[in-house]
Amino acid sequence: MNAVPRPQASPAHGSRLAALNDWVAEVAALTRPDAIHWCDGSDAEYASLLEGMVAEGTLLPLNQQTHPGCYLHRSDPDDVARVEHLTFVCTRERDDAGPNNHWMPPADAHAKMDALFDGCMRGRTLYVVPYCMGPIDSPLARCGVEITDSPYVVANMRLMTRMGVDALSRIEREGADGKVFVRGLHSTGELDPERRFIMHFPEDLAIKSFGSGYGGNALLGKKCHALRLASWQARQEGWLAEHMLILGLETPAGDTHYIAAAFPSACGKTNLAMLIPPASYRAKGWKVTTVGDDICWMHPGEDGRLWAINPEAGYFGVAPGTSAKTNPNALAMIQRDTIYTNVAVTDDNQPWWEGLDDRVPAFDWQGRPFDPANGPAAHPNARFTVRARQCPSWSPRAEDPQGVPISAIVFGGRRSTLVPLVFEARDWTHGVQVGASMGSETTAAATGAVGVMRRDPMAMKPFCGYHFGDYFAHWLSFDKPGAKLPKIFHVNWFRKGEDGKFLWPGFGENIRVLEWMVARVDGSVVSGEDSDIGLLPTRTQLDLDDIALATEDLDRLLGIEHDAWAVERDAAVADLNAYGVRLPVGLGSSDPA
Ligand code: GDP
Ligand code: PGA
Ligand code: MN
Ligand code: MN
Repeated sequence: MNAVPRPQASPAHGSRLAALNDWVAEVAALTRPDAIHWCDGSDAEYASLLEGMVAEGTLLPLNQQTHPGCYLHRSDPDDVARVEHLTFVCTRERDDAGPNNHWMPPADAHAKMDALFDGCMRGRTLYVVPYCMGPIDSPLARCGVEITDSPYVVANMRLMTRMGVDALSRIEREGADGKVFVRGLHSTGELDPERRFIMHFPEDLAIKSFGSGYGGNALLGKKCHALRLASWQARQEGWLAEHMLILGLETPAGDTHYIAAAFPSACGKTNLAMLIPPASYRAKGWKVTTVGDDICWMHPGEDGRLWAINPEAGYFGVAPGTSAKTNPNALAMIQRDTIYTNVAVTDDNQPWWEGLDDRVPAFDWQGRPFDPANGPAAHPNARFTVRARQCPSWSPRAEDPQGVPISAIVFGGRRSTLVPLVFEARDWTHGVQVGASMGSETTAAATGAVGVMRRDPMAMKPFCGYHFGDYFAHWLSFDKPGAKLPKIFHVNWFRKGEDGKFLWPGFGENIRVLEWMVARVDGSVVSGEDSDIGLLPTRTQLDLDDIALATEDLDRLLGIEHDAWAVERDAAVADLNAYGVRLPVGLGSSDPA
């Protein structure tokens, strides 16, 4: 192990901010690393991290002819997804975390975690990773520092955030004015699922994560900071931190509408954010640009509209299902300078996953010779990590410090039955009710059973850092005089027919639904039918011309089953009532909004 090249330790760099130096010293005294490295975010540093991991065998170079700068990391087979049962929100008052979170008293959580961290970095390097979530010069951006002993985490943070000297300067500048940065402490530990916890301390803007190297558990800027802690901060400060993509939709008239959409993990955010319209739509002038694919921070602007930034600088996307047919933008962006995690490889060492093409892989995600008897070749939650600007549809507005104004908010889940392709909420309050009632079938992005329908309000069940009752009330509070709020819609791309196949072609064809939304936003079509659940498009309002669908399938896709919806609404209301006295009046009551 001694021969492994490691980045030069640079304790001398330190920081001009005493609070940061003190914290690093305190963590080092607890965790006992062999060396401390302050990350500068440079290309040279990134190259040296990769080189170290290759030498160690934790990162495998892929075919450099076909995929220059691409590498494969194979996780421990027990560490391939988020672990919701081991994720805690540790507020002083139990009720502030809400029934939607696991809770532990902060003192107990610190004691438990500090015992795990005690001496855990012996023989390892401690990396200090300063990062900024959002454009570096944006007043809407927020900074943090992650301490980690995982070079894989550092390399991923470099792709996913604005990491290094610029972030450190901002942290120092803001620190001098008394502003607090988010403190995230992470160690991969021994990857023992029995010694794995992801703890959040929103009142102290702190995170402690031990025992996992998986993205959502270990890249602390992402879910832990930009969703769980940020949602808490957003409530104090009057904004929203959401599990949403942000796309720009250019219409034939030359307008660009920005749309934010919340779907649960592995339910289509990355794909929708990078949508390429079918040729007939491109010919008319429709185009989609990508601002973000997973997280959206929205602030009310002086003009009353909601202005959004994508706090991330990269994409941590689901590989399976990504192909030249489904998501050509994503496929193009991951041909170079990409870290793959838990994909399979072909005999010439190219990355491969189910749905990519007809080739047969040589080795599965665990490095075993591929044998279908062992299950899928790529792990169903195999991921790619890549810089956002590598995406052909990347929008330069992702760097706009003001953000982009949001015209429409979309909620959606994976529902094989009942839920129609699209409907519109009657108003903001009804939209909040629609979002709060969302359900979706579980996916491989979190450990546990797949395909089980669960309530996932606003796709935030795993990510809201406080009581859902307070969260819904916070959403409702945006409807005030002077506000010019986006319209709210609900979609479902995942309705299945009797044969078990998806009814709707999805992917690029989803533009047809977006087209209706912007027509509703700019008022060029009158509202469709008011139904039990909201406003539905009429058949003629949706352009379904060259979609080959039998009439009965179309009816199923676009229509409402009254009796089944009554059952669904009762179930949603019962689930909402679990949020008790903190649930805003009206949301849990059984009268339909
Ligand atoms: P995210 O995790 O929310 O970003 O979801 P992704 O966009 O990565 O998609 C997750 C999975 O759903 C992938 O396997 C996609 O191929 C699949 N998917 C995405 N959009 C659609 C769609 O419109 N229709 C269908 N049938 N599948 C989709
Ligand atoms: P996803 O991001 O939403 O793109 O799947 C990761 C996650 O939510 O775990
Ligand atoms: Mn996500
Ligand atoms: Mn995604």
